Amino acid sequence: DVVQSQLKLVILGESAVGKTSFLHQFINNTFVDKREPTVGAGFLTKTVDSGDRQIKFNVWDTAGQERFHSLAPMYYRGAQAAIVMYDVTKEDTFGRAKMWVRELQRQAPANIVIALVGNKVDLCNGQQENDNDTAERQTQTEDAARYAAECALLFFETSAKANINVEAVFTEIARNVPLE
Ligand code: GTP
Repeated sequence: DVVQSQLKLVILGESAVGKTSFLHQFINNTFVDKREPTVGAGFLTKTVDSGDRQIKFNVWDTAGQERFHSLAPMYYRGAQAAIVMYDVTKEDTFGRAKMWVRELQRQAPANIVIALVGNKVDLCNGQQENDNDTAERQTQTEDAARYAAECALLFFETSAKANINVEAVFTEIARNVPLE
C-alpha cells in the first residue's frame, strides 16, 4: 500500500518575483508570460511520488503586493514549509525576502522548513537569444548562500521560465519536512 502524506506549504515574496509562475511550472509544466498580480491568495495542490509514499503538496500562493501583507499569517499558520522567493536581478526583492524570513522565524511554527529561492536566473545566465531577455544580476549566489546558511534555510536559484531547479525545491522540502 502507498502511504499518502499531506504537506502544507506557503510561498512568500515581493510582487512580480515569479511566485505564481513558479508554482504553475511545478504543477502544469508550462510557463505563461504576463500574469496578473495575485489578489488575496491562490490555492493549488500537486501529488508527487517519493519512494514508497505519495506526498500531496497543499500550496498557498500569497499576493506579494504590500497591501496584502497583513493576510500572510493566515497562510503560514500551521504550515510545515515556506518558500521565500526573490528575483536575482532586483536587489530590493532580496531585502524583502530577508524580512519574510525574520517574520517566519518569529511567528510561524517553530519547526517550519524554509527554502530561500532566487528566481529568474534565465535573465542573467548568458543563454538568452536577445537583449530584451537579459538583466544584470544584483544578488550574488555566494551572498545569498551565506545568508541562507546563517539562518539555516534551504537555498536554490531557479527559473520558472526555463524550468531550472523548480522540481528540486519541492523534492528537497519533502526530504526535510518530518512527515506522518
Ligand atoms: P504577485 O502575484 O504580485 O505576488 O507576483 P508573483 O510573484 O506571483 O509574480 P508572477 O508569477 O505573476 O510573475 C511576474 C512576472 O515575472 C511575469 O511577467 C512573469 O512572466 C515573469 N516571470 C516569472 N518567473 C520568471 C522567470 O523565471 N524568468 C523570467 N524571465 N520571467 C519570469
